[in-house]
Amino acid sequence: MTTIDTATGEAAPPEISSERVKDIFSNIASRYERFNAVSSFGAYKLWLRTMAQMAPIGPESCVLDVAGGTGDVTFTMARAKRPRSIVCSDLVPEMLEVARAHYDEGRADGVPVQFQVADAHELPFEDGAFDVVTVAYGIRNMPDRPRALAEMARVLKPGGHLVCLDFSTPSNPAWRALYGFYLKHMIPFWGGLIAGDREGFVYLGDSIRAFPDQAGLAALMRNAGFVDVEWRDCTGGVAAIHRARRP
Ligand SMILES: C[S@@+](CC[C@H](N)C(=O)[O-])C[C@H]1O[C@@H](n2cnc3c(N)ncnc32)[C@H](O)[C@@H]1O
Repeated sequence: MTTIDTATGEAAPPEISSERVKDIFSNIASRYERFNAVSSFGAYKLWLRTMAQMAPIGPESCVLDVAGGTGDVTFTMARAKRPRSIVCSDLVPEMLEVARAHYDEGRADGVPVQFQVADAHELPFEDGAFDVVTVAYGIRNMPDRPRALAEMARVLKPGGHLVCLDFSTPSNPAWRALYGFYLKHMIPFWGGLIAGDREGFVYLGDSIRAFPDQAGLAALMRNAGFVDVEWRDCTGGVAAIHRARRP
């Protein structure tokens, strides 16, 4: 079995993880952005900016944002890169409803964005439909990562790029220990206070601890057929941005 429980990394049927993420994200959709801003001390905005710098998106690019949630990556790429179009997709309709409301307020600054409910393990798009696939804090929540990454490769044109932002592993032991403490104790505290969902945020910490480090995620990408895999650490490795190319 290639599927895992994303809270532990142990082999498990995929429904355990997918039902849990549906529960968590449908419940916190309207409070999700406030939690992000407070719990990361604003760092996630800096990381998004770096992600946009690393994304090879031009005016003719068609972009797919997988696990797009409330649209942070979609709108950042729209404003920073002004691609031809973006599809913002997510498993949870409630998250996309928030994204759509932001779009209606003009957050994409005139760049056309379509919203589509889609499971990353089975993307409802043609082979080679996109120039760039972005995914932020998404793969960590997916129980069959080899399959999800293979789907991302499939929908990319040959030569197209995957750009992935997620939490990762600091290389400095002291920084790693401090980060581990923050994940275990502070994240559930903030989650309870801001989003009213302490348990959902215990899961967040667990899933980060169970997630492969920078080299491990790069290996998963190579196994899914990507080449030229490279990454940049953010905030000493608290997060990392991987970029990979479909040959
Ligand atoms: C932490 S949020 C990240 C949202 C957004 N990318 C951002 O940067 O704010 C994780 C998102 O992944 C979505 N997700 C989890 N599993 C998924 C799957 N199998 N397919 C598509 N989306 C998924 C969740 O619904 C949620 O919206």
